[in-house]
Parts: sequence; C-alpha cells; structure tokens
Amino acid sequence: MKALVLSGGKGTRLRPITHTSAKQLVPVANKPILFYGLESLALAGIREVGIIVGETKNEIQAAVGNGEKWNLNITYIEQEAPLGLAHAVKIAQPFMGDDDFVMYLGDNLLKDGLTDLVAEFQKNRPNAQILLSRVPNPQQFGVAELNGNTVVRLEEKPVSPRSDLALVGVYLFDKNIFKAVNAIKPSARGELEITDAIQYLIDKGYTVHPHIVSGWWKDTGKLEDMLEANRLILETKLPENAGTVDSASRIEGKVVLERNAQVINSSIRGPAIIGENTRIVNSYVGPFTSIYYGCHIENCEIEHSIILENSSIKDIKRLEDSLIGQNVKISKTDKKPAAYRMMLGDSSAVEIA
Ligand code: TTP
Repeated sequence: MKALVLSGGKGTRLRPITHTSAKQLVPVANKPILFYGLESLALAGIREVGIIVGETKNEIQAAVGNGEKWNLNITYIEQEAPLGLAHAVKIAQPFMGDDDFVMYLGDNLLKDGLTDLVAEFQKNRPNAQILLSRVPNPQQFGVAELNGNTVVRLEEKPVSPRSDLALVGVYLFDKNIFKAVNAIKPSARGELEITDAIQYLIDKGYTVHPHIVSGWWKDTGKLEDMLEANRLILETKLPENAGTVDSASRIEGKVVLERNAQVINSSIRGPAIIGENTRIVNSYVGPFTSIYYGCHIENCEIEHSIILENSSIKDIKRLEDSLIGQNVKISKTDKKPAAYRMMLGDSSAVEIA
C-alpha cells in the first residue's frame, strides 16, 4: 500500500496567506497541517508516499524533505496546474503502478488516524473505500448516497442533497481508479473531479465501500475551519514548559511553552501554545491561541487566533478570531495625524472595532 498526498492547489479561500505560502504548511497548534497527515500515514505502516506539488513545490520540499523524519520515502510529483483531484491521481499512475493506495488531501485533519481504515480496506478488498462524515450543511460538500454497505451515488455540492454524508478528504483505491480518471472529462469548473471518477467505478460495477468516521474531521481550507482545527488539536495537548515564566506571570490550564519561549508579566490561559524563542510581555494570551516561533507580543490581549512565525504585535487592545501571517508587524502609534496606517496584501480582511 502506497499513499498519494495532495499538496498543490490554489488555496483561494485562504488568501492572502496563500499568496505567499502553501496552505498545507500553515501551522495548527504550531505544526504544519501537512505533517499531521504524514504522521498518520507512517503510523498506518505506509512507507512509499507521493506528494503532489504545484506552485509551492519548493516550500513543501524544504519543509518535508525526503521524509526520513517520519520514516517515509517521499517522491514529489509535479502538477502543472490544479486541474482537479482526479487529475492528481492521473499523473500519479507511473508512481503507483498496480499498487493500492491511500489518497490524502494535504489540508485535511482526521482525529482517528488511518490505521483502522487501511486494515478495513485490506480485509474487505473493495475497489474503493471512501470516508464520510455527517455534516449539517451537505450542500457545500461532495455527498454520498448509500444502499446498505455500498455507495450508489455521489454528487458534488448538490442543491438538494440525498443524505448528510459528506466526503472526507481521505480515500482508498485499488488500480481500477486509473481506468476511471483516464475515462472522465473535466467538469463545468474545468477540473477532473474525484467524485466523477468514483461514480464511474460505481457505474461500471466496481465495489465502493463507505466508512463513516466517528471522530472529528476538518478540512482547513477556510479561516474558520483553520481556527477550529487549531482548537481541536490544542485540546488534545498536555501542558509542557520548555521555556521560562517570570514570577509576575500566571499560567493556567493546558499551556505548552516551546524551547526558549519567554513569558514576562503576562497571563496565559490554555489551551494555548507559545513557540520557540517567542516573547510574551505584559500581555494576556487566552484559550485556543497558537503563537509560532520568533514572535514578540507586548501589551496585547490575544485569544482564539493563530499567529505565524516572526510576527510582532504591540499595544493592541484585543485580537480575536484572527490568522496573522509571517513577519507581520502590528502596533499602535502616537504619530499625528491619528490614523490607521496599513500595508495589507491582496485579499486581506481587517475588522476594526
Ligand atoms: P481544495 O481545497 O479543493 O482546492 P484548493 O487548494 O485549490 O483551494 P481553494 O478551493 O481555496 O482555492 O484542494 C484540496 C487539497 O488538494 C489541497 O491540499 C490542495 C490539493 N489539490 C491539488 O494538489 N491539486 C489539485 O488539482 C487540487 C484541485 C487540489
């Protein structure tokens, strides 16, 4: 069994962060999202992993390397443009050969890992196994219709969904998927759709089994989902202190201080994580906040947010529900005329109270 991890794409829903970097490398609880998927693949006993890369190839390659950190053997597969999930499968055919594989969307997080799913696939030997999760808003997902233990129909973002079972970004396939991806045509949005490829298998009489996931699953493509994923992961962390806390500071609940993090005259209420060499001075950091490495936070309150590396936030009353990119500087000034002065990237979003 091999794996195909999709780490190309455009990431339009996470602009401006994705103008300059790969969305799969945005840290959730101070670890790039993509690394969670690679860890679960390694835990499920998979060694050979193909990673689909696009424009952000260099960055993904610099972060993941040859995979030895996870005991994985990584091969990079370049996709000329994000032409669809089924297109990614198509170009991976030479790498897969006749092997079965797990396909994993690099911006997805799955609480329960992959070990049981791989075992189930190997025991029952369907041609494809899809993961499904019950959602309140199936209109926004690929939706499956079941008949007992088989999938009879898939629909992409249906107006009138036939079930509340959304397709999760993890799939298991045998080599027959290549017949499907080579036969289907691009959809109205110009992509080769994985739902069409799986529907092709169903229509040609191949077996497609559903697996309804019981633990949580998150597609982190949008800001709210990213913050929620951060919350879910932070909740699973145990407190740890590899940094320093002065006697005027208070640490409450599950707080992780990474190497050389410094907390000075501040209050941190977990679950929260403070990255390597980050300084928190005269501030309050509230629940569900992840501050990555090399940041400086002074005279601020921050809650329910993700701050990326090397950013500095000073004299800001309160920041909530925010995702702040790398090397960002936010500060208050007495300069006259009193005004907001900003240099924001394309598609930035700012709300001011
Ligand atoms: P999506 O989130 O469906 O697409 P996207 O990354 O283009 O994002 P947006 O909708 O915000 O523009 O992709 C799911 C995952 O698959 C993600 O990790 C990117 C990856 N992907 C590819 O590698 N190649 C592709 O052709 C597509 C469509 C996605």
